[in-house]
Amino acid sequence: MSKVMIIGAGGVGRVVTHKCAQHPEVFSEILLASRTHSKCEAIVADVRRASQHPALHTAAVDAEDVPQLVALIRKFRPRLIIHVALPYQDLTIMEACLQTGVHYLDTANYEPKDEAKFEYSWQWAYHDRFRRAGLTAILGCGFDPGVTGVFTAHAAKHHFDEMHYLDIVDCNGGDHGKAFATNFNPEINIREITQKGRYYENGEWVETEPFAIRQRLHYPNIGARDSYLLYHEELESLVKNFPTLRRARFWMTFGEEYLTHLRVIQNIGMAGIEPVSFRGQEIVPLEFLKAVLPDPGSLGENYSGETSIGCRIRGLADGAEKTYYIWNNCSHQAAFDETGAQGVSYTTGVPAMTGAMLLLTGMWSGAGVFNVESFDPDPFLAKLNEYGLPWQEEVGADLELP
Ligand SMILES: NC(=O)c1ccc[n+]([C@@H]2O[C@H](COP(=O)([O-])OP(=O)(O)OC[C@H]3O[C@@H](n4cnc5c(N)ncnc54)[C@H](OP(=O)(O)O)[C@@H]3O)[C@@H](O)[C@H]2O)c1
Repeated sequence: MSKVMIIGAGGVGRVVTHKCAQHPEVFSEILLASRTHSKCEAIVADVRRASQHPALHTAAVDAEDVPQLVALIRKFRPRLIIHVALPYQDLTIMEACLQTGVHYLDTANYEPKDEAKFEYSWQWAYHDRFRRAGLTAILGCGFDPGVTGVFTAHAAKHHFDEMHYLDIVDCNGGDHGKAFATNFNPEINIREITQKGRYYENGEWVETEPFAIRQRLHYPNIGARDSYLLYHEELESLVKNFPTLRRARFWMTFGEEYLTHLRVIQNIGMAGIEPVSFRGQEIVPLEFLKAVLPDPGSLGENYSGETSIGCRIRGLADGAEKTYYIWNNCSHQAAFDETGAQGVSYTTGVPAMTGAMLLLTGMWSGAGVFNVESFDPDPFLAKLNEYGLPWQEEVGADLELP
């Protein structure tokens, strides 16, 4: 039985709070803390209606302020922080965990606010400090990154002697009925997808123009969708942790309508992260855009369709070439009915709760900073089936990607 503190009262925080509250035998006391206290209260009020959890609390915190975090942690005394606010706060929260002796888990790697660049180096640099403190930091424990890393670890453990080619394929086959909206924090999402594409091949990173490489792929229960090569953060840790990989790529589906809106947003400067002066005030265009776009947390109600995210892998098993596909499909409507959040928040929040549970029950352990693929995939994938994200696999699959 452990106290847990969840930081971030957005779509993902909503799901994590719901899912942790379903397991009071592990998460005996839960504190949801975020910048806007009323958002924590609204989520916790919903969770109280849906669960019998006896000890749910809320608090306001600025997660970029280490002394504030430390004071709140000392008052509540959690064993673990599940960080599902924004990537900008990764380092301040890790710092506060070290100062107070608390384990750490997140779903997105650190990004500096003034540069649209994400890489693990900043967080990996904390490894020795976490190791010396006897604490665990689990990085990227959402779906992608997160489950995709565990899927890859499962493939390495149970299906291949050597993995050579990895393609992570992410399809949102859902329809929320809005002309344009992002499925998670618009600022983080738009920064991610408007970057140059990048993939790993033969020991090197190959850069492409944004959306320059497209492939039509078939997704289970959804059908064919245009899929674009993007850079995604788990590629960095996966090629490091599975050095037999000769190539690793990430693909995400986008509809024409979405891409047209995105082009306009970029062409008129609304995706900019440099402050501009407006009526005597400095504003960041992308932050302003976030304020006028639909809140991703509000998309759930009329969201139909499914997400489908998985790993397509080719390599050697018993001296012969083998292909393998492992994936999960998640229904937006089912996610909403259970937690009041759409599928993208759900597919992030369930793995975060699952990783937290494994850490708190000692099934995942180790002192230092780790990506999810460093742990045993078996208990995680068993729980994922149980907690709402059942996965499927196909040996000998047509991977469609040469
Ligand atoms: N790995 C994956 O598969 C995956 C997929 C999707 C999302 N994610 C990650 O999940 C995280 C949450 O996404 P989301 O869609 O839930 O975003 P969201 O709806 O925008 O929620 C973010 C929450 O963080 C809070 N916050 C922002 N700055 C804060 C600060 N300085 N101190 C305290 N709280 C702060 C926000 O507070 P306000 O309400 O006051 O603004 C908001 O409640 C993001 O890091 C995203 O990158 C990961």
